[in-house]
Amino acid sequence: MDIEHFSLPLLAWYDKNKRDMIWRDHFDPYYIWLSEIMLQQTRIEAAKEYFIRFTNELPDIASLAQVSEDRLMKLWEGLGYYNRARNLQKAAKILVDHYGGTLPADFDALLSLPGIGPYTAGAIASMAFGIKAPAVDGNVLRVVMRYLACDDDIAKMSVRKKVEQQILSIMPERPGDFNQAIMELGEVVCIPNGAPHCTLCPIQNTCRANKGGCQEQYPKKAEKKTRRIEQRTLLVLEQDGLIGIQKRPPKGLLAGLYEFPAWDGNLTEMDVTKKLEDLGIYPLDIQEIGRATHIFSHVEWHMTGFHIVLNRNETRGFLSDTIQFVPTTDLTDKYSMPTAFHFYLKQLLK
Ligand code: ADE
Repeated sequence: MDIEHFSLPLLAWYDKNKRDMIWRDHFDPYYIWLSEIMLQQTRIEAAKEYFIRFTNELPDIASLAQVSEDRLMKLWEGLGYYNRARNLQKAAKILVDHYGGTLPADFDALLSLPGIGPYTAGAIASMAFGIKAPAVDGNVLRVVMRYLACDDDIAKMSVRKKVEQQILSIMPERPGDFNQAIMELGEVVCIPNGAPHCTLCPIQNTCRANKGGCQEQYPKKAEKKTRRIEQRTLLVLEQDGLIGIQKRPPKGLLAGLYEFPAWDGNLTEMDVTKKLEDLGIYPLDIQEIGRATHIFSHVEWHMTGFHIVLNRNETRGFLSDTIQFVPTTDLTDKYSMPTAFHFYLKQLLK
């Protein structure tokens, strides 16, 4: 791997082929930071809308530092991994308090901020400030492993570190463009899951996997552990036209977001009726409203939902003190209900 055969042809290819991205039009470090965090959650095309909505409302670090948690969650709704949004705000507060509300042009200072790891620090340092720092994401790992026909396991931190060193050693001028060129090659040419488009690749002649016809064997990655499956029974409670929701605990999965109350297990209508009766609750109506699955990184929720209409005089305190009853319009406009619950939310809005 060297500058002449890798870095320069790649930069020339990037100059001709780079895609339009709104955050590329500005050299605003805040935009670059935000877009990189969003791109860790979603595809480039999908990120655009979130990015516009987010920056319209929170155009700078100071406004991000000040926004309420509920509103922040609402702006992040659908992207998932809500802690990323919380970390954005934590970092913004630090930036306001200690860096005059701007991002520092320093790799180590960036790395010290909440939610900013080596990839993001490298991306911001190189793209916003022209600092020679590598930004190694999954795309870069794939491109490099194929180029070198290297058998190393890319899930290992040591392999990532090695690739960072290799990229740094062949970093040309314009480090931000170079980092983006490798990522972009990985996204449009040296694609994952299937045959890459090697005939379009600017470095095909020196790529070992292309020479050996073994592109799809790389990158090598140790098998992931299987996800734990949790059965959940969701209670979509309605009383007087209002719907019961509760805030999740401040720590853990979907922390601090709103949800329909739920019981563990895959309960039948009879089970639910019985459990409600045990609490002294005799609903006007119970209907099963379908099964849905939501996949997180480590857990899968297999859910069954019940629409339960409560008598107007039912004392809600029996169920839980934490359930609040709100109009259906608030479920979409005010509170952030994670995608995991959207199947049931849609049923209500029908
Ligand atoms: N993927 C994540 N960030 C990117 C960027 N800045 N350019 C291209 N692909 C990316």
